Amino acid sequence: MTALQMWCFWPVAALLLLLPIAPTLAEVVSSMSVCGHFLLEETPPQIPGVVEGGKILNQNRYKPICQTYRNERRFVTLYDVKNKIPVFSAYKYRGVDGKGRPKKHWKIEPQLENELANKNMMSKDKQISYKHQAVDTDFRSNGTFDRGHILPSSYACTENDKRSTFTLTNVVPQAGSFNKGSWSRMERCVQCVMDKYCTNSSGFTEGFVVTGAQPGSGKVLNNRVNVPSALWSAFCCYSADMQAWIASAHWGENVPDRAKNKHLQAKTLAELHGLLRTEDSEFAVFPGAQCPLHTTVAEFYPKDISCHCPPSDSPAPQSSTSASLTATSCSRSSTSAPCSSTSAPQTSTSAPHCSPSSHHTSTSASLTATSGPLSSTSAPRDSTSAPQTSTSTPHSSTSAPHTS
Ligand SMILES: *[C@@H]1O[C@H](CO)[C@@H](O)[C@H](O)[C@H]1NC(C)=O
Ligand SMILES: *[C@@H]1O[C@H](CO)[C@@H](O)[C@H](O)[C@H]1NC(C)=O
Repeated sequence: MTALQMWCFWPVAALLLLLPIAPTLAEVVSSMSVCGHFLLEETPPQIPGVVEGGKILNQNRYKPICQTYRNERRFVTLYDVKNKIPVFSAYKYRGVDGKGRPKKHWKIEPQLENELANKNMMSKDKQISYKHQAVDTDFRSNGTFDRGHILPSSYACTENDKRSTFTLTNVVPQAGSFNKGSWSRMERCVQCVMDKYCTNSSGFTEGFVVTGAQPGSGKVLNNRVNVPSALWSAFCCYSADMQAWIASAHWGENVPDRAKNKHLQAKTLAELHGLLRTEDSEFAVFPGAQCPLHTTVAEFYPKDISCHCPPSDSPAPQSSTSASLTATSCSRSSTSAPCSSTSAPQTSTSAPHCSPSSHHTSTSASLTATSGPLSSTSAPRDSTSAPQTSTSTPHSSTSAPHTS
């Protein structure tokens, strides 16, 4: 047995040890929590029928993936192996260091086929027939749909972070003009707003982004891959400038843009929650967090369109806070050190904050349901499952990102 395989057995061992004390179903929560540091409050969204009360309901179908590239965890995805599309990807936006868009090099997730396989995303192995995920031939067989990124490469901090977004577990079949048009404009607007306002009290750019797909009920690519009916996205961050949490959301039908300059309407979190809840169950993007439910990015830019954000239909309420924001402009070229803050009075370093800190990774299967509940101190989230990491994480479960 190689060292690698040894580590792969860790979660199994941990599971056996924890079984007597872990409450039923808690394993799944904690498997999300293995990469909980990409989630605000380390809490996954509440998605009716998929994740409720922090628990994945059907663990055979919905697999949390700590997206690992070159032995580092880059973001987290909850993947639907039946529809072969992500439910959502979540990321901690820290600004951008890497230049441009890397060369496309599509990867797959080996552990979706075999839990003991390599933890890193990899190129497709021609010998293997992939039963639990989409592969590039699924997309090539059609040509009508783009491989639409859920976490966009443009949000990723380093060059390698960007490369890591080119995994087919992070894409959905997306109408081309929607992907390149209104959705892409929305992504740029939100990124610009985060660059401008999401500077936390330590002076670093930090915004929590969750983007997901609503499975469609009709179209299926290559008899395998669900074509989602809509995409949604939301962000939330603490803004030291505003001394407040700010948040906004977007939602767009997965159909070609009809108008050439179509803009998606900015939504509040409450509006998004209303769109995605079901009769039986509520939807919540950032459950338990302090994110405001009734703000939109449009409010942050009532007139100033330097972020190229969509014009808002209904005029934003001129609250005292939003009025004070308009003085500053936000263009992508402006500002300062990449991946760090635009205004970092207290920070002595201007180094990019792209380094993954503790998130080097276990070889352990991100996919196996292991370990204790989120709150459990015995969860092997960091220390036990990270053979290469010697330092402790600054994102321990006790550190709330909003302590002020
Ligand atoms: C692509 O897939 C869609 C949805 O299944 C289908 O309607 C369309 O005919 C396909 N096009 C081609 C060229 O296969
Ligand atoms: C600010 O953001 C950085 C980068 O994500 C993070 O390491 C730091 O802990 C955050 N500080 C606070 C007070 O949340």
